[in-house]
Amino acid sequence: MSEETDPQTAIDAEREKHAHERDERVYEHTAGDEQEGIPFIGAGPGHPRLLTVAGKEALEAADLVVHAGSLVNSELLDAYCDHAELVNSVGKDLEELVPLMRDAYEEGRTVVRLHSGDPAIYGAALEQMDALEHEGVPTYIVPGVTSAFAASATLRTQLTLNETANHVAFTRPQGKTLDAEDDHIADFVGMGDVTTCIYLGTHAVADTMGRLLEDGVDPETPVSVVYHASWPDEDIIEGTVGDIGAKVDDAGYRASAMVLIGDAAAGAGYERSYLYGEWASGDRGTDDSAGSGPSGSETETETTSDD
Ligand SMILES: C[S@@+](CC[C@H](N)C(=O)[O-])C[C@H]1O[C@@H](n2cnc3c(N)ncnc32)[C@H](O)[C@@H]1O
Repeated sequence: MSEETDPQTAIDAEREKHAHERDERVYEHTAGDEQEGIPFIGAGPGHPRLLTVAGKEALEAADLVVHAGSLVNSELLDAYCDHAELVNSVGKDLEELVPLMRDAYEEGRTVVRLHSGDPAIYGAALEQMDALEHEGVPTYIVPGVTSAFAASATLRTQLTLNETANHVAFTRPQGKTLDAEDDHIADFVGMGDVTTCIYLGTHAVADTMGRLLEDGVDPETPVSVVYHASWPDEDIIEGTVGDIGAKVDDAGYRASAMVLIGDAAAGAGYERSYLYGEWASGDRGTDDSAGSGPSGSETETETTSDD
C-alpha cells in the first residue's frame, strides 16, 4: 500500500472525518438492508443454520469470500460458498488484506468479508472497513450471532435472569493485547449479579480463575465452558471458579471456547419476572410505583414494551 493508504493513516483519517459528522449512511440504511459495497458479515458461532438470512444471501452471491479461518466452520463455507474463491485471512495483515479486497471489488467482483460470531465483538472489523473506505470502497456490517449467545442457548439458560443476573459483561482476559490493569474480570464477577462472558481466554482459564481466587471471589461461583458452541464437536465443561481451570486443562482446550461465569451460567434459581406476571394483565405501574418491585418498575416497563 502507498503512503496515503497506510492503514493507520486511513483509520485516523476516517475517524477524524466521522468525529465531526455522522456518516450519512447511518440514517439512510438499517442493519439488515442490502447496501452498496463489501459486507462485513457475522458468520455466527459455527452452525450453518445460525447464519442470518442477509448473511446467507450475500455469501451465495459472492465471488470472493475472505473468511476468518478456523473460527468459521468449514461446513458453513461448504453450504453457502462452494462456488466462490475462498481466502483465509489468518496470518494476513491489513497491508495484504485491504488491497486484496479493494482490487477484487474494483474489478467488479462481489466480495464478502466473513467474520466469526458478530463482527462487533472482538472482530477487528472497523480497521479493515476504515482502510477500505479510505480507498473509496464502501463497506457495511451484517450482524451475526455472537458465541456467548450460542453458548447460553446450548446451556439452555439466559445470560440475564431476574434477580440473579441483572447485567452481562463481554470481556477478555489480560494477555498480549490487554494490560493487567485493563482486565476487569474480577470487577465484573465481584459485582455478583453479572454474567461474565470471556472471549479469547480458553488458553488462560486456570490463570484467570487463579486471579479471581486471589481477589477473594467465592470458589463455588459457577463457571461453564462451552467449546465450539454449535459445532459438531461442541463440548461442555461445568465447574466452579475453584475447579474449572484444572478441568479445562485436562480436556486440553487452548482456543475456541466461551467461558461463562455466574449463577445464570448454571441456570441457578431466579425470581419470575414481571413480564408474564401482573404486568402482563395490564398493571404497568406508574412513576409512583417505580422502584417498588425488586428490580424497579422502570426497568420492567422497558422490558415489557421491548418484548
Ligand atoms: C476473535 S474472538 C471472535 C468472537 C466473535 N466475533 C463472536 O462474536 O463470537 C474469538 C473468540 O470467540 C470465542 N468463540 C468464537 N466462536 C466460538 C464458539 N463457536 N464457541 C465458543 N466460543 C467461541 C472464543 O472465546 C474465541 O477465542
